[in-house]
Amino acid sequence: CGIIGYVGSGRQPAQEVLLDGLERLEYRGYDSAGIAVANSTLDVHKRSGELSALENSLADREFNGAVGIGHTRWSTHGSPSHENAHPHTDCEGRVAVVHNGIISNADALRAELVEAGHRFESETDTEVVPHLMRVFLDDGAEPEAAFERALDRLEGSYAIAAVVADSDAIYASRRQSPLVVGLGEKERYLASDVPAFIEHTDRVIYLEDGQFVRLTPGNVAVTDGNGSLVDPTVESIDWDPADVGKSGYDHYMLKEIYEQPRAVRQCTRGRVTEMAGSLELSELPASVRSGTDRVQLVGCGTSFYAMQYGASLLCEHGIPAQPFVASEYDADSIPIEPDTLVVAVTQSGETADTLGALRAANRAGATTLAVTNVVGSSAARECDAAVYIRAGPEISVAATKSFASQQVTLAMIASVLAERQSQPFLGALRDLPSRIQHVLDTSSARHVAEEIVDADAYFFVGRRYQYPVALEGALKMKEITYEHAEGFAAGELKHGPLALVTPRTPVVALVTGSEDVVDRTLGTVREVEARGAPVVAVTTSSAPVEPVADYVLEVPETHRHLVPILTNVQLQLLAYWTADLLGRPIDKPRNLAKSVTVE
Ligand code: G6P
Repeated sequence: CGIIGYVGSGRQPAQEVLLDGLERLEYRGYDSAGIAVANSTLDVHKRSGELSALENSLADREFNGAVGIGHTRWSTHGSPSHENAHPHTDCEGRVAVVHNGIISNADALRAELVEAGHRFESETDTEVVPHLMRVFLDDGAEPEAAFERALDRLEGSYAIAAVVADSDAIYASRRQSPLVVGLGEKERYLASDVPAFIEHTDRVIYLEDGQFVRLTPGNVAVTDGNGSLVDPTVESIDWDPADVGKSGYDHYMLKEIYEQPRAVRQCTRGRVTEMAGSLELSELPASVRSGTDRVQLVGCGTSFYAMQYGASLLCEHGIPAQPFVASEYDADSIPIEPDTLVVAVTQSGETADTLGALRAANRAGATTLAVTNVVGSSAARECDAAVYIRAGPEISVAATKSFASQQVTLAMIASVLAERQSQPFLGALRDLPSRIQHVLDTSSARHVAEEIVDADAYFFVGRRYQYPVALEGALKMKEITYEHAEGFAAGELKHGPLALVTPRTPVVALVTGSEDVVDRTLGTVREVEARGAPVVAVTTSSAPVEPVADYVLEVPETHRHLVPILTNVQLQLLAYWTADLLGRPIDKPRNLAKSVTVE
């Protein structure tokens, strides 16, 4: 879900800023959306469905007021209905609240409030908050105190913002869910993510867990859990506002696929020296470099597949490494030795499952490292060290450039930890952006998509470093086309999945690697060819795929560790063009959100 808040002194109406901000946050959820604008009363307006439903319903109405909050929702408690949309209010509509996260004692609080005569309108856990605030306001508390006392009663995780009729402030707090303040000229912004207000300001304050903030046009008062004022650090964001627009592309996803040469260049800049002579990752403390003998990696979704790739490179470099799906990581039953490094790989730095695993590793005494795209994110702050992937803002729900940048970052980390700086690898890293550009310029994925678009299912197979890419290719395909897609280790196909293969199930085979690996993968390809499946071979020019492949998507030669980054670009394009032909809402696939901040 996404939160936006704005307090101004009249230069711009709050409604306009809130709707713009919600548009920028729509990738965080689009089941329903709403805004509340405060003046002497509260104007609250919400709609189920995409943000455009809210915008259309507000086309002829402008709420008067320079203070407000807004929310775009990805349902967790209750269905995606009008009633369950945020903001939620108390019975008389004097307090409005937006919330991300889960209030775990909401049922008990609701029962207590119903007993005291409060009427509830939604099924959400959030609705208890405005009612609680109302209880304290009726007791004579000032809005700020009412907010703090209400939050004292909550258990669980949250980022919460509230406005109160007749008050020119926003009250907000966070616990395990992100919230960032933007500082303008006599204007203050609040959001769950920087893109929401980057067009207005690049000066930000990342709130810490347990802090409260009161925003007024001229002031930002941050207090800790004991009520003491805190002097917050103001940071500058170096994202360009143009980075968060579509720049003429039909979808963010396509734009971000095409941004990969730049993303990778940014990722290696200053790390791989001009002449490709050496690799330096200054963010990796010396203690981590010398003290690490084994690695555990935790992450979800696309980040998990990047980790699987990273783990195989670490192992090849002689460092035992094990990837874990974060929600399955159990630090109590997995031995953590004094020389174990736990690496949390997460684009957003806010995925609840990944943070849960990371916190468990921290409690178990592991040294922890975040590999993330978002400076100041929870993962970055809660780890002993952070290496940024520097992909720039990624808006499309389906991750693309962040995967390439994670792969590059993990490949660099593996080299540094293993103290292996092979010149061919460093030279290939330096040249990688131009290789990716070549794939983008020459890919015939669109044509292949046209040929295979009406299939029953899509299978992806790969071996060794290409196995995680096969899984990621299938994930991309299912996320944005809604078609059945599965990835398999090439050698596993014959142990079961082969039963599914028919002339209506194209098999996308990643045929790269050493002669032996190529030969064995071609063996798999022959098995599916014999069952009549159309074969799409993704390969370098050196692999002899012509006799067995119906379609070929070629990538240039590069260092063997980096070929999977190139083959993945072809799979991104294949998924994109298939989804486009099917007319799917590519940037906003149903039921999915970019950043899942609940477990
Ligand atoms: C969500 C997104 C995926 C993403 C995963 C992990 O499920 O839909 O695209 O890979 O979260 O996100 P993270 O920010 O931790 O990399």
